[in-house]
Amino acid sequence: MSKMYERLCRALSSVKEKTGHIPEIGIVLGSGLEGIVDETQITCEIPYGEVDGFPVSTAPGHTGSFVFGYLEGVSVVIMRGRIHYYEGYSTAEAVMGVRLMGMMGAKALIITNAAGGVNLGFNAGDLMLITDQICMVPSPLIGENVDELGTRFPDMSEIYSLRLRNIVKAAAEKTDVPLREGVYIQLTGPNYESPAEIRMVRTLGADAVGMSSACEGIAARHMGLETVGISCISNMACGVTDKPLSHEEVKETANRVAPMFRRLLRQTVKDIHDNI
Ligand code: HPA
Repeated sequence: MSKMYERLCRALSSVKEKTGHIPEIGIVLGSGLEGIVDETQITCEIPYGEVDGFPVSTAPGHTGSFVFGYLEGVSVVIMRGRIHYYEGYSTAEAVMGVRLMGMMGAKALIITNAAGGVNLGFNAGDLMLITDQICMVPSPLIGENVDELGTRFPDMSEIYSLRLRNIVKAAAEKTDVPLREGVYIQLTGPNYESPAEIRMVRTLGADAVGMSSACEGIAARHMGLETVGISCISNMACGVTDKPLSHEEVKETANRVAPMFRRLLRQTVKDIHDNI
């Protein structure tokens, strides 16, 4: 058994000691998008610090807990705050939450994040369905393979499930939420990018840039966890406008978009549940 699997099993036991809640859908919440927790009927909340062997999130605005409960009557587990590579953890550690939610029984995963708009047709406040990704941080699968979860050389041709993407697109239409589509690129952070780096990632085919989600996408695909991703374009990326970027702006925009985002997320959860 790999060291990582042992560590995940320890974390899982420690969660199971605190709750018997079995989630159907796992949700990772990005910066400023945590309001959906207020609309969740919470059965149990476990701070990461109380989960044996689990890394603790230090990013400002990321509380760091698993929230168990019901959203639209659907059994969910929500990661309120995530672990980032830039905090000094390995990507293998950063994706432990995603792996754990799959091990808890989640059948589908919804990844959300705040991201910078690279595509010049985007605007701050847009929501973007992630169609594919470019991972510019080390793969979370580096190291001994966790055979219990997946194969050494997993296919990545459909990290974001086409089936779930169609569900989200239909949910967006039903709830009247405009939805862009595009490729998400993950760089290390924690600094925002330079204008030259943004020109580079645009040339590479990215539409949005962030610091969190691509390694999570890889881990989810590795373990066969059906995944969909939604980015909140919290700002246009560096160099698109001449305004310097700040975490405050990211949070402000996320807050402004929050009602629309929550509407989309609730409908998506309901529709995934109906089509699980
Ligand atoms: N770059 C990287 N990550 C981000 C950004 C950005 O512009 N906005 C929100 N997360």
